[in-house]
Amino acid sequence: MIVIRTVAEMQSWTDAARRKGQRIALVPTMGYLHEGHLALVRIARTKADVTVVSIFVNPLQFGPAEDLAAYPRDAVRDESLLRREGADVVFHPEVAEMYPPDFTTNVQVERLSDGLCGRSRPGHFRGVTTVVAKLFNAVRPHVAVFGGKDAQQAGIIQRMNRDLDFGIDIIIAPTVRESDGLALSSRNTYLSQLERRQAPVLYRALQYGARLIELGERNPQMIIPALSDMIMRETSGRIDYISIVDTETFADVTRVKSEVLIALAVSLGKTRLIDNILAQPPL
Ligand code: PAF
Repeated sequence: MIVIRTVAEMQSWTDAARRKGQRIALVPTMGYLHEGHLALVRIARTKADVTVVSIFVNPLQFGPAEDLAAYPRDAVRDESLLRREGADVVFHPEVAEMYPPDFTTNVQVERLSDGLCGRSRPGHFRGVTTVVAKLFNAVRPHVAVFGGKDAQQAGIIQRMNRDLDFGIDIIIAPTVRESDGLALSSRNTYLSQLERRQAPVLYRALQYGARLIELGERNPQMIIPALSDMIMRETSGRIDYISIVDTETFADVTRVKSEVLIALAVSLGKTRLIDNILAQPPL
């Protein structure tokens, strides 16, 4: 496994791989890898001849009051996990390499970025799409793998890929969970012991919401308060949103007529957790 730190070197590696006829997979990450990331690497390896994993804590996607400085980092551990997983390249640029002082171009996927996390984290998705576009241009992969826990992010990236003709095969992998249902996230390390014990209620609430829809409840105004009560009973968290949205546009639905996404964001102490589930009404 090799570690590449500059865009120019990454592009020349990728050009050489393409000349050899190799299919390239990219797994973009912000490092501090957990089993969820490693599952993405395993999927990538089945889809390509060579797998590149990028590690870059992207300042553009953090708001001024967010956890950029505190975001956990451990490059040595990440590299050893990736070596063991059989990754071929780690692309690990410095911030100045990705964003030189005169950097001034951003990529914004409109409308899809407005709701859910886009509402509470203004500019977040613009930062995500800008860095992912840059990673796509640095690595020029045939296939890229993203986690389904960030469903809105995944949908926005799929739309950017389509609208800007990147022509990359985007794969959205299922969320990997702890045995009690908590979705894996690098931010779980911020949870206190009490918060960690409370956190699985988020997924239980989502499952309950999906069950209500499967049983025929079609009114979000009946479902959302039930989920909210369940979370407030079991945690001292702050609910940012619980929404039932269209799976393509991420716009709120007023009535459940076809498959929907139930998505939520809840802060337990200083840790903001997100999760989601797909729900299908009866035919
Ligand atoms: O999901 C993440 O870890 C990040 O948003 C991504 C896609 C690597 C872009 O920085």
